[in-house]
Amino acid sequence: MTTPATGIGPFDLTGRVALITGASRGIGRAIAIALAHAGASIAAMSRTASDNESLVAEIGPEHAIAISGDVNSRADNERAVAETVAHFGHLDIYVPVAGTNRRKKIVDVTEDDYDFVVGTNLRGLYFGCQAATKAMTPADGSARAISGKIITVGSLASVQGVAPGMSAYAASKGGVALLTKALAVELAPTNIQANCIAPGFILTDLNRNFIGVEPRKTWVLSRIPAGRFGAPADVSPTAVFLAGGASDFVTGQVIAVDGGFLAGSDWNQGA
Ligand SMILES: NC(=O)c1ccc[n+]([C@@H]2O[C@H](COP(=O)([O-])OP(=O)(O)OC[C@H]3O[C@@H](n4cnc5c(N)ncnc54)[C@H](OP(=O)(O)O)[C@@H]3O)[C@@H](O)[C@H]2O)c1
Repeated sequence: MTTPATGIGPFDLTGRVALITGASRGIGRAIAIALAHAGASIAAMSRTASDNESLVAEIGPEHAIAISGDVNSRADNERAVAETVAHFGHLDIYVPVAGTNRRKKIVDVTEDDYDFVVGTNLRGLYFGCQAATKAMTPADGSARAISGKIITVGSLASVQGVAPGMSAYAASKGGVALLTKALAVELAPTNIQANCIAPGFILTDLNRNFIGVEPRKTWVLSRIPAGRFGAPADVSPTAVFLAGGASDFVTGQVIAVDGGFLAGSDWNQGA
């Protein structure tokens, strides 16, 4: 089966160019590798040059470039898009994955904590989407021949409070979900689809020392019907679906990849 616009399979990303922020580790790295396996060329952005370079080496330097930058800087977001277009000629898929967290009860959250979390997760993502949208939209504002894709990364906290200590994170991730829907509406006429992946509990550097240790480990696992934490590779195939022609009529969605967490409610507790 091929899609009419491209003549290639709906999950085939050959010829498409993806820029991924937070690509150096965890979920972003898995998404970069999965998109590369599906045929896309990859621009990988994060702050740590050595991690970016190791990803480029893993994918192959003919198919990937590394960009050092901080998503908190609007100028860095614009430079990342410009470097991607300068190297590969165009941008088709933008995946802002870079994110962070500081878990604190709201009474303890400082202005610095708030700016750090919301600045990275929402402000940085917002201006990254702005720069990417400019690059993906034809100069005359007409519809793209081949679809453009924005794939944001939200969280369970995009749709629920999850646990105490998540106020700044939830404020940012709730914003990510609704920003994605607003972009879906605004960009549909130009054939750009915007969707949000909401990962559940995925073991990465971001949370290994939090959910991976007792007593939280037991608390979290008891609420995941699948009975296990997710891995970054559990999340990345959904990004492949959202990056290709397979999802050209899917836009404005928040898709949980969570082992059933949002479908249940203390399911294991009463069993
Ligand atoms: N793990 C989970 O259970 C989970 C669940 C739901 C949602 N998420 C979301 O998924 C995304 C990735 O999380 P993860 O667990 O994979 O985290 P991770 O392993 O800590 O990786 C975070 C990535 O973001 C980059 N990054 C952080 N701040 C940045 C900045 N200011 N500018 C540029 N890059 C930055 C990091 O690279 P550098 O440090 O080198 O910059 C790294 O590549 C985040 O948005 C997170 O909120 C994760």
